Order: sequence, then C-alpha cells, then structure tokens
Amino acid sequence: MKALQIVKYGKIKDSLSINEVEKPSLKPNDILVEVKAVSLNPIDYKIVEGKLKDMISLNLPITIGFDVSGVVIEKGASVNNFEIGDEIYSRVPQEQMGTIAELVSVNSDLVAKKPKNSSFEEAAGLPLTGLTAIQALESVGIKENDRILIHAGSGGVGSFAIQYAKAKGAIVYTTTSSKNVDWVKALGADRVIDYKTEDYKEVAKNLDIVFDTLGDEYTFDAFEIIKEGGKVTTIAGLPDEETAKQMGMKEYKLPEKLSKLIEKKAAIYKLTWMQPDAEQLNSISKMVENGDIKPIVDLIYSFEDSIDAYLYLATERAKGKVIISMS
Ligand SMILES: NC(=O)c1ccc[n+]([C@@H]2O[C@H](COP(=O)([O-])OP(=O)(O)OC[C@H]3O[C@@H](n4cnc5c(N)ncnc54)[C@H](OP(=O)(O)O)[C@@H]3O)[C@@H](O)[C@H]2O)c1
Repeated sequence: MKALQIVKYGKIKDSLSINEVEKPSLKPNDILVEVKAVSLNPIDYKIVEGKLKDMISLNLPITIGFDVSGVVIEKGASVNNFEIGDEIYSRVPQEQMGTIAELVSVNSDLVAKKPKNSSFEEAAGLPLTGLTAIQALESVGIKENDRILIHAGSGGVGSFAIQYAKAKGAIVYTTTSSKNVDWVKALGADRVIDYKTEDYKEVAKNLDIVFDTLGDEYTFDAFEIIKEGGKVTTIAGLPDEETAKQMGMKEYKLPEKLSKLIEKKAAIYKLTWMQPDAEQLNSISKMVENGDIKPIVDLIYSFEDSIDAYLYLATERAKGKVIISMS
C-alpha cells in the first residue's frame, strides 16, 4: 500500500515522500481502517522539521499523520465495539502515528463513529482540534456567562473552540486578521477583534479565561487581560509544573516571569497536551449531529498533492482544516 512518509528531518518538501509500505499489522484490540480522509495539524510539520525530536523519538522512515476518517475493513479478535463497514474517525495514539496511508490500524478504544451528517473530509478535521479545544477549555472549567478570549479564531483549534464555548453559554471574544473577520463572526463569536487594525488588549479586558493558541508573548500578555483569579489555558505556551511532570519533564520549573504573573493575578495557568479520547469523540459526534458544531474545512487536497497540503498548512494562514482526501 502507499503512505506518506517522513524520510529525514528538515524542510517539508525535501523530507516527505509517498512510498510503498507494508500493510499494517493488527493487535487483538485494533481495527483496520480503509482511510477515506485525513487532516493535517501543525504537530505533523513540526515533527518533520525536527522541532519535536526531544519529545517524540521516531525511527525514520515512518508514516505521518494523526487524524483519520474511514471505514472498518478488519478487526482484531478482542474488538466488540465496532463492525466491518462502520464509518469511524479517530485521533490515533502516538505509537500508531501514520494515518496518511491507504490503510491504518487503530486501537479501537480510541475510535468513534463519525457524525452521521458529516462527509469523511469534514469528519477527518475534527478529532485532534476538537479534542484539544474541549480538553483545554474544560481544564479551566468553562461555564455559562464566562467571558473568554480565544486567540486565532480562524485556525483549526480556534474555529472549533469558538463554537464549543458558545454551546457552553460563554461570551466569546476572538482574534483574527481582516480577511477572516466575517466568517469567524458567523461561527458565533460575540466580538471578533481584527488584529491588523485593533489592539486586542484594549478590546478584551477583565476576562474570566484566555485561551492561548499562539504562545510566546501571547501567553504572558494574557495575564494583563484576565480578571483577578482569572484563568489562562494554553496549548502553545510553556507547561505548568503538573503537566510538565506528566510529560516526563521531571526537572522542569516554571520560569520566574510566568510564576510572578500567575501570583500577581492569583490566576490559574494550565497547558493542555491533547490526549486521544473516544468518549469525547462521541460527544463531538453528538454536537455535530445536533448542530452545535459545524466542521470547518478550508482546502481539500488529493493524496498525490499531500506535500502541497503541508506547505499550505505551514504558512499558518489556514482557515479551518486542511484535508487530504484518499478517494
Ligand atoms: N498542546 C496541544 O495538544 C496542541 C494541540 C493542537 C494544536 N496545538 C498548537 O496550537 C496551535 C494552533 O493550532 P491550529 O491547528 O489551530 O493551527 P492553524 O489551524 O494552523 O492556525 C492557523 C490560523 O492561525 C491564525 N493566526 C496566526 N497568527 C495569528 C495571530 N497573531 N493572531 C490571531 N490569529 C493568528 C491564522 O489566521 P490569520 O491568517 O487571520 O492570521 C490562521 O487562521 C499550533 O501551534 C499547534 O501546534 C497544540
């Protein structure tokens, strides 16, 4: 079968190649999926560029990709929650990375039936971004009437997070550039801040929560705009000490600059490192089926054009999800 593989670390166009590889083997709890669509995520190109070498060690060449939608065509002896022919989606665990392929085996505990009203392309864009948004927002207990700023509302995670926060009854501010303002507003955000023409720190103040999807100075600046006792939930910033321990960073200490900001505002600060979760995927399916969440697809590429899809994602200008259709 054919698969998109990382052959070396470096620039995307020199480091990825469509290769002939062996059909994946099945463990007793795995299902074999005929892949219909996959979505790309920044973690994929960060791996290719070698930026995550210390955290994720790989033997190259290796097939890339974490998100998948498709059809169950075989199942291991212990699988009793799926049948041949089921239409599923998943964010596969790290040890099963390799969804950009004609076939993929996945631990069935991390799989859910895709939303009935979504195409395979729409469904493939939901797992990693949806799980990330839910885990990051629930880690700070988002609730009705919370005033929240979600950075990068036009991104994969941001476009899901806006819809999830609105479904929870929050009051949502979000940042995006001028060209995306209208469609991001249509996702339900109460106030879309055009970062090309406005200073978000002047518009969104005294917030209950900032969802930091950008890192660097955005993490530190979040403390300027939360209220006393407010919360900063990040997916792109520095780890909090508890999460660092869970990630195996035993010696990690929160930098003084960050701990001072937390102390000054009596704030809660939390990094989410997304974990695959079938129960949450099932709840995403329900939210899509009842109309609370609309999958946002930007561009769909063919498998043969996978490298172009990665080059586009790496511009950091994608509007929703970048998808590869395998059919
Ligand atoms: N910790 C985790 O488990 C986890 C999980 C998923 C993702 N992540 C990380 O979270 C980040 C976001 O992921 P993603 O999938 O949402 O990325 P993405 O879809 O590639 O984000 C692209 C979007 O970011 C917007 N953007 C870029 N710079 C911006 C700025 N300064 N202000 C406002 N918007 C800006 C762009 O909008 P404009 O064109 O309008 O600027 C574009 O729509 C990535 O760094 C990713 O690695 C972490």
